[in-house]
Amino acid sequence: MIPFENYEKSAAYLREKLEGFQPEILMILGSGLGQLGDRVEHPIFVPYPEIPYFKHSTAPGHKGRFVFGILAGKKVAVMQGRMHLYEGYSPEDAAYAVRVMKLLGVRTMIVTNAAGAVNLDYKPGQIMLISDHILLFPMTPLTGENDERFGTRFPDMSTAYTPALRTLAKQAAAETGVHLNEGVYMFFPGPQYETPAEIRAARLLGADAAGMSTVPEVIAARHCGMDILGFSLATNMAAGILKQPLTEAEVLETGEACKEQFTALMTRILEKL
Ligand code: HPA
Repeated sequence: MIPFENYEKSAAYLREKLEGFQPEILMILGSGLGQLGDRVEHPIFVPYPEIPYFKHSTAPGHKGRFVFGILAGKKVAVMQGRMHLYEGYSPEDAAYAVRVMKLLGVRTMIVTNAAGAVNLDYKPGQIMLISDHILLFPMTPLTGENDERFGTRFPDMSTAYTPALRTLAKQAAAETGVHLNEGVYMFFPGPQYETPAEIRAARLLGADAAGMSTVPEVIAARHCGMDILGFSLATNMAAGILKQPLTEAEVLETGEACKEQFTALMTRILEKL
């Protein structure tokens, strides 16, 4: 278990660095989606390795830094890159930043990821609003002694993805003309992509998208009482659907190709929040 003091020391460092700026919304940008952070006004950049006790991000397409500032009129903390379990991090490590942001006063988290489309009606390049998730692996940030300063021992997950914010996201999508699916995200630890049999199983279980992140952060955010919005960009059809192998290049290319619609949607959501 990570001691509470570590979170406090990370938060104290950031507080000093931010000189009175207090972020309200945490945005975690997934593979290929980090460019939104470049639009932040009055940016204060803080690379993760600079922050005491903070974890580093080593995944491709992840810059590994915070951008604090104003986006669409809102005070944001944008994470360009996150920590994944496949990098060797524990779920608690992967969710570390969420708890530090909680200590800084953040109340809302918008979390994004690149994912494989499991739902056969989805197309690469489409965005999915996450309505719920499936975690079949014993990989939660809440394993071990519970720290009541963050939240309760058995947090409710029946509305982890805040219903009122999902309604707002759907309105924002309609207003910006962005096609938005809504469905269930299933966590896989990676880094290997899933097998076709795993994807068939995921579909049978009710998953619409599969990916290697997001769920640890969502559990920690829910535990400490944040409101949550989650989005998956379907960068590819999941394994076994098309007769072609899955590649990292395809994932990053689709992220790049979709950045305009992704940015438009996120901007409108921030305006409406
Ligand atoms: N599976 C898991 N994670 C992913 C995928 C996928 O197909 N595409 C992008 N991230």
